[in-house]
Amino acid sequence: MSSIREVAGAAGVSVATVSRVLSNPEKVASSTRKKVQKAIDELNYRPNMLARNFRSARSYSLLVLVPDISNPFFALVIRAIEDRAQQKGYSVLLGDTRDSARREQDYMRLAETRLADGVIQLRPHSLGDAPSSESLGFPCINLCGAESTPAPSIRVDNVRAAEMVVEHLVALGHRRIGVITGLQENVHTQDRFQGYRQGLSNAGLKFEPKLVVEGNFSMPSGQNAGRQFAEMKQPPTAIFCMNDEMAIGASQGLKAYGLSIPEQVSIVGFDDIDYAKYNDPPLTTIAQPAEAMGTIATDLLLQLIDGQTLSRTEYVLPFEFILRDSTGPANS
Ligand code: RIB
Repeated sequence: MSSIREVAGAAGVSVATVSRVLSNPEKVASSTRKKVQKAIDELNYRPNMLARNFRSARSYSLLVLVPDISNPFFALVIRAIEDRAQQKGYSVLLGDTRDSARREQDYMRLAETRLADGVIQLRPHSLGDAPSSESLGFPCINLCGAESTPAPSIRVDNVRAAEMVVEHLVALGHRRIGVITGLQENVHTQDRFQGYRQGLSNAGLKFEPKLVVEGNFSMPSGQNAGRQFAEMKQPPTAIFCMNDEMAIGASQGLKAYGLSIPEQVSIVGFDDIDYAKYNDPPLTTIAQPAEAMGTIATDLLLQLIDGQTLSRTEYVLPFEFILRDSTGPANS
């Protein structure tokens, strides 16, 4: 087995430079990095990562906590986090909290015991429990959280996005606009609900509690909500679903009752997951910048791990309104 000294000799650099390429590649000029990588490949050098981690007192692992690993939107974000982490020489540990505070705390111990150098939380269990890096004692970034979380946060303006959905439906002539929410305690439910109500009020429409059906961001919950709406004496002519999964489920539920989309009911989702464009009909939705969210969260977390202070604590990224075929004029 070859040694770090042999790699340094073959690349014509010092042992310290090889070591830096392995632990902090971004701090080394790209030409030097290429020379070292070539020597590593040619000599088939396998660094002793445990020794490296021990020397630097780092685990070179990032912990990512996700409330629901089966949600395709979170999968896109996690992929971006992993890509960025790998570029920077880190691996990713994944914890599915299933929205449980206890599971979240159990996972946090990995960072407390330094098995991870920092944490990216894709929405903490609840706003009240959202920890700050200071209170935790290790770096933490809150991704997709709500306004005013104590940890540095990255999100889209969920309130404004939901308001735009209602504006779009009102412009199509809809006056009875239903909503399928996530669970009430979810911060996205709260923000998107606020935007929904704001949109109604901007258009001079009365808020009708019976047009609100609670789901839990899953497809089956959307399907149940779709059925409930279909069974109403006077169903809404348009429904804002707080994510695409529920919108896909709701489409199925409504169609099972013979209602056609968008001729009888317009449907809007949120996220723009890959399945949105394959739905029948393809979903009008709000696209969240999943990739940018994951990349920026990773960069910010690595800055915190390096002891840097972030210039801002709140990063609000742009969303995009995606018009497809699931919305159309209100059927008078
Ligand atoms: O928590 C579930 C939802 O919140 C996701 O579908 C996505 O919209 C996220 O922001």
